[in-house]
Amino acid sequence: AIRNTPDAAESNYLRSEIPERHLAYPSTSSPAKSVPFQQPTPLLTFSYDTSRTLSFTDSALRYYVDPPLGAELRYGYERWIKRPGEKGRIDSLLKAVSRAKQTMGGGGGDGGSEWLKGIGVVSWRGVMTKILIAPYENRDAWELNVMLVDGTLYFEEHVSDAKLLEMEDMRPHHRLSTYYGYSFESWSTSSRPDRMEELSGHPPGWGGDVDTSVQWCSVVKTKLGDMRMVIGGEVDCVRDKFSGQTASFVELKTSLAIRGPQDEAKFEKKLLKFYFQSFLLGVPEIVVGFRTPSGRLTTIQSFKTIQIPRLVRGKPDAWDPTICLHWGNHFLNILKSTLQESSSNAEIDEPRVWRVKFRPRIGIDISLLDREGVNEVQAGEERVGFLPRWYWDESQA
Ligand code: A3P
Ligand code: MG
Ligand code: MG
Repeated sequence: AIRNTPDAAESNYLRSEIPERHLAYPSTSSPAKSVPFQQPTPLLTFSYDTSRTLSFTDSALRYYVDPPLGAELRYGYERWIKRPGEKGRIDSLLKAVSRAKQTMGGGGGDGGSEWLKGIGVVSWRGVMTKILIAPYENRDAWELNVMLVDGTLYFEEHVSDAKLLEMEDMRPHHRLSTYYGYSFESWSTSSRPDRMEELSGHPPGWGGDVDTSVQWCSVVKTKLGDMRMVIGGEVDCVRDKFSGQTASFVELKTSLAIRGPQDEAKFEKKLLKFYFQSFLLGVPEIVVGFRTPSGRLTTIQSFKTIQIPRLVRGKPDAWDPTICLHWGNHFLNILKSTLQESSSNAEIDEPRVWRVKFRPRIGIDISLLDREGVNEVQAGEERVGFLPRWYWDESQA
């Protein structure tokens, strides 16, 4: 089951025995005890502007407003400013970590690096969601790159060039339904609290043309079992005001209107992803806009994130979040010890890059990338493993 096994004779990158692992398909049977997950606390927020420039401001923050029912989600499709496809780089999150580290240091000293040493995982929220819901994922495979540096695991999604092209080259139908999701965000948010936008030349309630480069992100600190984590991700909007806490965060989602038991079961399955995506950043509320197949908004419904597991309990397609947390904890610990074993009995001047492959119904493989694999990951950029050089230098200082 192990792939990408490097050839030890050829590669001086690999100097000792590498413990590669195969983890059997994550089980969906109930664990004996539940693994605690700490309520996420915010470290900082940042914004991307239309040119994808990052600033540590709340310039991209949006406020929730009730969208007008009957709104056409197709509105503005021709004017969609689409963010160019990108590999799942961790660079922006590392900028945030670096900044948080300075604050943690309490002015001088290396309190910041001490703080970082206690963090087991640094990852985007999307990656952590994929890991946690793996026990219930029976369709899509995924791959990650992982590094262990000073006791911290860094994750990035591995997006091959072929996959990137495929994402760029969406079928018109898929492209349009993806747009509906962003359009719903525009209809449901305003640049001012509690007031619908009145933009001239647009229907009332339209929050402005969609530009998917612009995003507001939150970076939080949390803990799964004994593993402290720093997680970053996009927050769609806030209710009323943002006072530095996660309490007013709102996640927006669209879904096809439910017309029968089959639709309902499908929606309940989707709730698993909605739940963990929000839960990981401490987002307490999810507003779902239900739409017709042709993109007319029919109803909206607000869900309290923590109550979602109760809604699906006992249903035919039920899922149980404790299974996901148990699996996530198990996986992260095995991954960490696998990487630790390897680095402790090997002399390397450059940290290794590992590949984690998840295949539905089969399981997870952990293997070391060879030089060629690392070159592909770096794509000619100035990196140490997949970490940007500046971050590496900073961590070694
Ligand atoms: P919906 O959430 O209404 O499906 P997010 O919900 O994470 O804030 O993402 C906003 C929108 O981005 C989604 O709207 C969807 O249209 C699009 N999107 C997010 N992840 C996607 C994915 N993996 N594939 C295609 N579209 C995606
Ligand atoms: Mg979003
Ligand atoms: Mg959303």
